[in-house]
Amino acid sequence: MDNVVVLKSNNQIKGLFTIIRNKDTRREDFVFYSDRLIRLLVEEGLNCLPFEEKTVITPTGAEYKGVSFASKICGVSIIRAGESMEIGLRAVCKHIKIGKILIQRDESTKLPHLMYVKLPHDIANRQVLLLDPMLATGGTVVKAVDVLIENGVKEENIVFINLIASPEGIKFFSSKYPKIKIVTGEIDGSLNEEKYIIPGIGDFGNRYFT
Ligand code: URA
Repeated sequence: MDNVVVLKSNNQIKGLFTIIRNKDTRREDFVFYSDRLIRLLVEEGLNCLPFEEKTVITPTGAEYKGVSFASKICGVSIIRAGESMEIGLRAVCKHIKIGKILIQRDESTKLPHLMYVKLPHDIANRQVLLLDPMLATGGTVVKAVDVLIENGVKEENIVFINLIASPEGIKFFSSKYPKIKIVTGEIDGSLNEEKYIIPGIGDFGNRYFT
């Protein structure tokens, strides 16, 4: 699928995933090595944004024909696990504005329900890096994008940054929002009956925050 970018695997990246996927990894190490992977994903996500040509003069007096971002950017994290990715985003983009969306499943209807939203006031004029480490069924991220679109963001101006995805989640999300780039670290085998990703990582939010 051309809307999906998977981090190019090598032993270094595989090694980081091996640490964070291990059930015996202590929280401190889980956070440290997740942060390292998230930072790489953010860098990859930034590469999906539009650039324009920019020429600068170097200290030698010569021209360097380079590029710079074509538009303002912001982040939006999906609470709670997505908040873990804010550190990686801030490490790479100084002073970046970051909005938040909280979505919870309504236990009676089983549908994702918007509980809280706070977005930069000019989000409609920005490229948006949407943050959530786990893409399981895709229900939550689809609802989050619905909210962004209602707030004037264009579908093609969103990049979804994600650590581990399920094939089901990618298929569902891409069918709803085919113009959104998904940048992910690894695509796993499937979902189990409880909708956990397999082999997965367990509950990312619990492992990162508690
Ligand atoms: N959220 C998680 O934290 N883990 C999963 O496997 C799926 C959703």
